[in-house]
Amino acid sequence: VLRRRGALGRFAVAASVAVLAAALGLQSGGRFASPGELASPHRAVQAECGSCHPAAGPGDAWVAPVFQHSDVSQSALCLRCHDLGADGTRTHGLAPLALAERHARVGRGEGPAPARLRLARLGAGIAYEADGSLACATCHREHRGVDTDLGEVSNLRCQTCHVAQFRDLAHGHPEFSRYPYARRTRIVFDHGSHQGKHFPRRAAEFRCMGCHEADAAGAGMQLVGWERACSACHADDVSAAALRAGQRGIAFVRAGGPEGGATPFLRLVGASDPPRSADELLAALAERGQSALGEQLAAVAGRALRPDELRSLAGGLSRELLALPGFGAAPDRARERFVEAGGWFWQASDASLRYRPGGHADAFLRGWLDLAGELVAGPEPARAAAGGLFDALAGRDAPGRCGYCHSADERRGADEEPALGMNWWGQRASPRAHAPTRFVHRPHLSLRDREGCTTCHALEPQADYLASFAHRDPEGAFASGFRPMARELCAGCHSRAGAGDACVSCHPYHWGEFTPAFPSSPEGDVPAPPAAAEDEPDSDALL
Ligand code: HEC
Ligand code: HEC
Ligand code: HEC
Ligand code: HEC
Ligand code: HEC
Ligand code: HEC
Ligand code: HEC
Ligand code: HEC
Ligand code: HEC
Ligand code: HEC
Repeated sequence: VLRRRGALGRFAVAASVAVLAAALGLQSGGRFASPGELASPHRAVQAECGSCHPAAGPGDAWVAPVFQHSDVSQSALCLRCHDLGADGTRTHGLAPLALAERHARVGRGEGPAPARLRLARLGAGIAYEADGSLACATCHREHRGVDTDLGEVSNLRCQTCHVAQFRDLAHGHPEFSRYPYARRTRIVFDHGSHQGKHFPRRAAEFRCMGCHEADAAGAGMQLVGWERACSACHADDVSAAALRAGQRGIAFVRAGGPEGGATPFLRLVGASDPPRSADELLAALAERGQSALGEQLAAVAGRALRPDELRSLAGGLSRELLALPGFGAAPDRARERFVEAGGWFWQASDASLRYRPGGHADAFLRGWLDLAGELVAGPEPARAAAGGLFDALAGRDAPGRCGYCHSADERRGADEEPALGMNWWGQRASPRAHAPTRFVHRPHLSLRDREGCTTCHALEPQADYLASFAHRDPEGAFASGFRPMARELCAGCHSRAGAGDACVSCHPYHWGEFTPAFPSSPEGDVPAPPAAAEDEPDSDALL
């Protein structure tokens, strides 16, 4: 990740580090003999002795014997510039509980290989500090010259703990299980049925690169977006005109008695204390428009709504619109109006205020799915109503058909109640994510013509792929439309003499969510990493 960052990024890092070092008031310990030249990244940031050695404070109090390189306090200094996550100094960056869980899982033999091949050693013989940390210098050497590769760590370091030694990937390495298709896709797309049936019927060419493209780093493959990938055949599924008979719009509120008005929307919107009836809501909307909706929803959700959020949820509904001829809170004033391109209309036959979705990524439907999914984890009485609304909108055949292609996941937050969320994006690599196993497409694509994808991704047309979306657990049962990759596939090229078999080319040591070399100071006077754009997809929970 770091190696690919642009020169400008590196300069920015170096500049802020220099500012940091100055801010800390560190002095050069230059008059003490350094054991050797620092590696170039650390020379470039002009790291002072005191940036890495705790004894090297300002003044003369520093004496050489105080160097304690297995001292965690030195590691703490490294972490001032290198964010490795909350448990950065621990084994694989995992909190003790998470590590113990993994260790136990492997010990129980849950995996394809015999446990003795995989179980790592914990305890005796490993240079843990009193608090369970591993000093950085156990693996990262310094003062070995400008050209040292700081990230180069020999396989032997890993095998301090991973005691079962195997010669290489081809001999003794654990078999892969379901790699890399352990988690179901976020967008529902059956490769088998489209390649075998749907594309031929439309005389369309099934090209992998018609829908996938390499990301900027060349590592992951991402979707080219709805417009280029799906709209040619599916635009009608999401357009307002495609709503079927009896489904001419979504009933938002129905006027009339307390039960008459109970649409899934009203059950949620009205779930305040005291509850609001349909007629009260319609009267408030006619009088004060969007702000009435905003206040009512804030009372239900227990938080204020963001202005853009309210705009989506209101879908353009306003006091002015309701006052137009053809609209009205009272049934007798209203005349049904048909809204071709999507929007609001009044249906006299059942005295309902209705919405017609206006095509792909309709903001109203997206907004209500997001809000209902969030409130499913909230307190009653809104919780039950939110679940009902989510189910009504996320179904495969619900108006707008968002749930035809976008899967819904149960998401466990910090608090125990799981929320529901629609996956609006397919998988996209996050530069902050460090999973236990990594892959980079780029070097593999230049080896063969660009359509040679199926050498690694062999289709499995028999798979009951669509059944994987009958539940909402993203880690639950999944039948991929592709055959798992076998170890031999990679081992055919990845030998010592061939494409290389260093453990760390496929397995990074540091796991978790972090930006490794962005300097951050405890004082917070160094600029934070750029915040992710609002619309960026959430990266996966890795561990
Ligand atoms: C970027 C961090 C960093 C900076 C800056 C740095 N060192 Fe080091 N230093 C280390 C690490 C890591 C080790 C342990 C190296 C190893 O075991 O291979 C080390 C080892 C040493 C040792 C050997 C001590 C022993 O126990 O073997 C001395 C002496 C030393 N450094 C002096 C200095 C002096 C003097 C400076 C300033 C000119 C300096 N260092 C700057 C990271 C740094
Ligand atoms: C003053 C800030 C600073 C301190 C202190 C510091 N580093 Fe660094 N380090 C950097 C910067 C900046 C880079 C270059 C990052 C890049 O190329 O994007 C770097 C690079 C590295 C890399 C190589 C990353 C790669 O891309 O290969 C490693 C490994 C590393 N540092 C480990 C350490 C260790 C271990 C310590 C403590 C002994 C330490 N650093 C202390 C700023 C620091
Ligand atoms: C058990 C060995 C081990 C220990 C202990 C260790 N590292 Fe590393 N580190 C590695 C290896 C291997 C790599 C290169 C492979 C990778 O993760 O990308 C690496 C990479 C890095 C990188 C570059 C990350 C990147 O994504 O390019 C930084 C920065 C770093 N280490 C800092 C530290 C610091 C700071 C500590 C102490 C808190 C530490 N390491 C402790 C093995 C270790
Ligand atoms: C301080 C001990 C220690 C060191 C050093 C260490 N590991 Fe591990 N590793 C563990 C433990 C503990 C587990 C949890 C599973 C187990 O017990 O086998 C684990 C698990 C793994 C896994 C399995 C990932 C998964 O999906 O479950 C991989 C791959 C791995 N380590 C690679 C490495 C590599 C590569 C290195 C060297 C850069 C390394 N380890 C260094 C202790 C260590
Ligand atoms: C019409 C568009 C389209 C075409 C053509 C297409 N794909 Fe896909 N593919 C998708 C979508 C949509 C996903 C789901 C992406 C997500 O949710 O992240 C996907 C997912 C995948 C995945 C991940 C599957 C999994 O189970 O995790 C692989 C691998 C893949 N495609 C490879 C291919 C290959 C190889 C080809 C050519 C033989 C191909 N695709 C052709 C749309 C397409
Ligand atoms: C050398 C084998 C290989 C080749 C060739 C290959 N892939 Fe992949 N692909 C992988 C592996 C391994 C993963 C899993 C990556 C991961 O989980 O980090 C993957 C993941 C994917 C994914 C899921 C999203 C992601 O980035 O993880 C898609 C989509 C995909 N590949 C499409 C393609 C397409 C399209 C081609 C042809 C242009 C292609 N692949 C060629 C090995 C390969
Ligand atoms: C070349 C035309 C074409 C393209 C492009 C296309 N589809 Fe389809 N798709 C179809 C047809 C035809 C059906 C069958 C519709 C039916 O039976 O009602 C279908 C059915 C589906 C189904 C229902 C399950 C199934 O496989 O039968 C889903 C989900 C789906 N498509 C998703 C997508 C997504 C997502 C994309 C874009 C990534 C996409 N499709 C691109 C033609 C296409
Ligand atoms: C036929 C399949 C299909 C249907 C139906 C569908 N989408 Fe999508 N949608 C996609 C695909 C494919 C992407 C591209 C994902 C990516 O690039 O990773 C996408 C992207 C999106 C995005 C993110 C990018 C953007 O364009 O803003 C949003 C938001 C979204 N869809 C909302 C919706 C909503 C709301 C509905 C229901 C009204 C809907 N979608 C119906 C296939 C579909
Ligand atoms: C046709 C031969 C071939 C096959 C098959 C193959 N690779 Fe590679 N791989 C290469 C070559 C060549 C490189 C580039 C090596 C280099 O730059 O030194 C590479 C590089 C890599 C890298 C390092 C990329 C980087 O930039 O750091 C990873 C990770 C990797 N391969 C994983 C895999 C995995 C996992 C598989 C099996 C799913 C696989 N490869 C299958 C030839 C292959
Ligand atoms: C060319 C890539 C590659 C190389 C080189 C490689 N591995 Fe792996 N390794 C993988 C893949 C792929 C998996 C399967 C990951 C998965 O299923 O999610 C894996 C799985 C593992 C596991 C986990 C097994 C389990 O079921 O939990 C361990 C432990 C492991 N490797 C250790 C090593 C060690 C140690 C080395 C170096 C001697 C090494 N690997 C070299 C690609 C590689």
